[in-house]
Amino acid sequence: MVPPLRIGLLGLGVVGSAVARALIDKADLLTHRVGRPLELRRVLIRDASKPRSIDPSLISANADDILDDPETDLIVEVMGGEQPAHDYIVRALRAGKHVVTANKEVMAKHGPEILAIAAERGVDISFEASVGGGIPVIGPFKLDLLANEIDEIRAIINGTTNYILTRMATDGTDFGTALAEAQKLGYAEADPRNDIEGIDAAYKLAILGSLAFHTVVRPSDVFHEGISGLAPADFRYARELGYAVKLLAIGRANDGAVELHVHPALIPQTEMLAKVDGVFNAVTVRGDLVGNILFYGRGAGAGPTSSAVIADIVDLAHRTMEGTARVRPPAYDDRYRFRPMDEVCTRYYLRLLAADQPGVFAQITQALGDARISLASVIQKQNVLIGDPAVEYAEIVLMTHEAVEAPMQRAIRAVASLPAVHSIGSLIRVEP
Ligand SMILES: NC(=O)c1ccc[n+]([C@@H]2O[C@H](COP(=O)([O-])OP(=O)(O)OC[C@H]3O[C@@H](n4cnc5c(N)ncnc54)[C@H](OP(=O)(O)O)[C@@H]3O)[C@@H](O)[C@H]2O)c1
Repeated sequence: MVPPLRIGLLGLGVVGSAVARALIDKADLLTHRVGRPLELRRVLIRDASKPRSIDPSLISANADDILDDPETDLIVEVMGGEQPAHDYIVRALRAGKHVVTANKEVMAKHGPEILAIAAERGVDISFEASVGGGIPVIGPFKLDLLANEIDEIRAIINGTTNYILTRMATDGTDFGTALAEAQKLGYAEADPRNDIEGIDAAYKLAILGSLAFHTVVRPSDVFHEGISGLAPADFRYARELGYAVKLLAIGRANDGAVELHVHPALIPQTEMLAKVDGVFNAVTVRGDLVGNILFYGRGAGAGPTSSAVIADIVDLAHRTMEGTARVRPPAYDDRYRFRPMDEVCTRYYLRLLAADQPGVFAQITQALGDARISLASVIQKQNVLIGDPAVEYAEIVLMTHEAVEAPMQRAIRAVASLPAVHSIGSLIRVEP
């Protein structure tokens, strides 16, 4: 009989409970499929007073019980947050235990150092669930796509914001209402900043970018802008123009530089990413050998995330049997410099309110032209009365040709300072 893989679980929340349940309820099936038992030895929680649905003798509120247990082969970290999760992962690796984690914040901020510690100790760390929940994306980057030169990743990797944007697009709901609804349904946290400001997606893009471009990517290398500035009008105009609005995580490599940015973007309705709605996630990758591929599925939730965590456990169960469970330190090429956001080139959608008077439009095009921003199309929509005495303003939507970010931002400041311009509604980048 092959000895069991003995597992210490850190965290028994949404993901941890589903992992524990699967290990217990599917024990026989997993033993049969894996070829050895997966034994849940201990589970770490924080609040001992909470009711739990697993055998109380497995539960401990003392991390030492699990991390110092010489009988534990593998630590599964599903606590979340940077600390103490990071310390516990490092402690486990240093103690010669393998680690599986779903923690994107720890892997985005400390991934290279953690992989180096694992390599030094001759153990492995897997993090499939840290990006895309139940969608297998980390594995394919590490193995199936390795022979490729990847020059583009475009991804919808935050289910909370995709749910909010889908509601705004389909029902004309405003941002605040859609967010409140997402919170009620459990799709958004009480403090939703990490999601709506694009920080969560930036962590995930840092992880994917490191793997895809064989470069150490830190969260600070990823530009991020959130979705709270979007208005229902943007979704109406985007639709009229043939686009959907999505929070996109984009990584591109060309001309010796890699650029990584997360922000709302208009994407043509004909693209597959435009059809990824609700809490679903999708990652598109373009490689020189494989061409374009798409990964699609549920990016969060107990079931999908536990599926990815258990996949990593099974992989380690196999490799520990074969004696090959030792991390292969990533071979960073370090071929690329990071292109700062100021140098990124794209098209723009601009919505603004300007006085409905002769000559105003010429002033706007002049301010844009001074920064060498040229216009591809203009639509003028309904007029609105603002102020007392009421002044009639026109809502104007402009689409530019390709422009560089820094001059575009300068041009926007110049347009906003024109006396005839009431306000800039939004500036959204247009893909591709
Ligand atoms: N939820 C998802 O759909 C999803 C998807 C992909 C990835 N992830 C990642 O998976 C991880 C876990 O997420 P989750 O949603 O399961 O979180 P969660 O529901 O908040 O559960 C966290 C668990 O960790 C325990 N915990 C937290 N801090 C602790 C500490 N200092 N000491 C001991 N125990 C502690 C909590 O204990 P108590 O029970 O005592 O409070 C709880 O059991 C995160 O890294 C998250 O980003 C989650």
